[in-house]
Amino acid sequence: MSGNLNSQTTQEHTSHKVDMKDIVSLCKRRGFIFQASDIYGGINGFWDYGPLGVELKNNLRDWWWESMVKCPPIGPDGEPVQIVGLDSAIIQNPRVWEASGHVGGFTDPMVDCKETKLRYRADHLVIFIPKDSSEPWLAAPKDDEENIAEKRIKKFGKGKSLSAYETKDLTAIAVQDFDKIIGPDASKPGTLTEPRAFNLLFESKTGATQDTTVYLRGETAQGIFVNYKNTLDSARVRVPFGIAQIGKAFRNEVNPRNFIFRSREFEQMEMEWFCHPSEADKWFDFWIEQRKKWWLSIGVNPDDIIFRRHGDDELVFYSKKTFDVEYRFPFTDPGFGELEGIAYRTDYDLNQHQEYSGVKMEYIDPITNERYVPHVIEPAAGLTRGVLAVLCAAYTVDPNRPSGMFMNFHPRMAPIKAAILPLTAKDGQPEIARDLYMSLRNDFMIELDIKQNIGKRYARQDEIGTPFCFTIDNQTSEDKTVTVRHRNTMKQERIALSSVKSWLHENLAIMAQG
Ligand code: GAP
Repeated sequence: MSGNLNSQTTQEHTSHKVDMKDIVSLCKRRGFIFQASDIYGGINGFWDYGPLGVELKNNLRDWWWESMVKCPPIGPDGEPVQIVGLDSAIIQNPRVWEASGHVGGFTDPMVDCKETKLRYRADHLVIFIPKDSSEPWLAAPKDDEENIAEKRIKKFGKGKSLSAYETKDLTAIAVQDFDKIIGPDASKPGTLTEPRAFNLLFESKTGATQDTTVYLRGETAQGIFVNYKNTLDSARVRVPFGIAQIGKAFRNEVNPRNFIFRSREFEQMEMEWFCHPSEADKWFDFWIEQRKKWWLSIGVNPDDIIFRRHGDDELVFYSKKTFDVEYRFPFTDPGFGELEGIAYRTDYDLNQHQEYSGVKMEYIDPITNERYVPHVIEPAAGLTRGVLAVLCAAYTVDPNRPSGMFMNFHPRMAPIKAAILPLTAKDGQPEIARDLYMSLRNDFMIELDIKQNIGKRYARQDEIGTPFCFTIDNQTSEDKTVTVRHRNTMKQERIALSSVKSWLHENLAIMAQG
């Protein structure tokens, strides 16, 4: 978003580091995101999206759907690729999750602390070991290891400094050495248990007598695989083609943390691309390029996004290669956190479902008559993680305005596209404002805000990231003009009341192009 009036910022506010606490507090204060069951003290790992949060999430969701299903990318042959949509049930036959490997293998290694009763993912802990072979060893969570380790060393390190320690992942430490470790929140050594597998699927019961165990889906992808045959038989698609789905997924995460980043209920945007095995490499590269373009189209700073190939030790067993899209969140800075995985899943899933269901998953090429089980490339993105990246990217500190900050949302993401603000609640101004609102509301998400002093109303619109404010004042009834205030520059100009709709269409489009 650079190169036009709206995106140029007058101050050097973008250089300020954003604090997660400020983002969480803004989200609550302005109605983006609330803790679920807030009035009952909340529930760990669950979040509710308020009036502005649901608009923001829907905008990101709709942009993905638009880019995948309504107007899919142009393929290497110059024609649009074929992708159809799906909305499958959250609860499926439990055999689906046996076939997919989730019932047996969807686990995280987890350790408990016997002293504090806290639970940690074993692969998220780093152990600080004194180089002089003394004890104790100190555990710290990976995403803030140095900071926490320094505090722990001050307390337990017998005068040592950070440089007197070397680090090892907990998973690389022999269980008999656990007795030397003081857990991240413990006061004495030897309280961490051996890592144990912890299944992430949530269970429920179905049927009148509640006798069948079912699972809340751990990913939207399996709903796609089990509908591959139905889709092929009913929609006019041929390999290569894709099936896209957006929806809730549930994982009983050991340690939900970092606001909505890792939650137990979240939303995914997944597309399974079915292709001939010999073309899988070509399509893998194609989807990486497409997904790069997409993430850069939502207003995140390109310097804060990386595209990282998984090393062989990181690959899940069914994947031949995987690429992650990662964002520099305030809590991972200077590191990055995953937004999307683009995996070459081979024919693993279709073969599994073929074996468990007995239904053939072969595709018969109508031209060559070749029979084969298609291979799959899967761009799997987190919608709610994407929302967090958009929020972090938009938060812009600016000491030169009353709110001290503004949300620099890409206009496509902004929950409210424009606000209409009569300067006073008299002299016919509210009536003009209402007429303007009625003329715009079919085209845009508009807020009509009549009360409070104008400075406070501008401050609120800055905090919720509204690109433009139209102000009705005394001059409006005289010469039929309104003031437009630009969010990013705070500059104001007058335009004809009758031109507001076309002006807004044009200027949102200019701003979106950047
Ligand atoms: N079908 C493949 C799959 O589910 P994944 O990497 O486990 O792959 C895809 O999930 C995306 O879903 C992740 O990149 C992340 O954005 C999002 N995601 C996964 N677990 C999440 C959680 N606990 N909370 C929020 N988002 C999550």
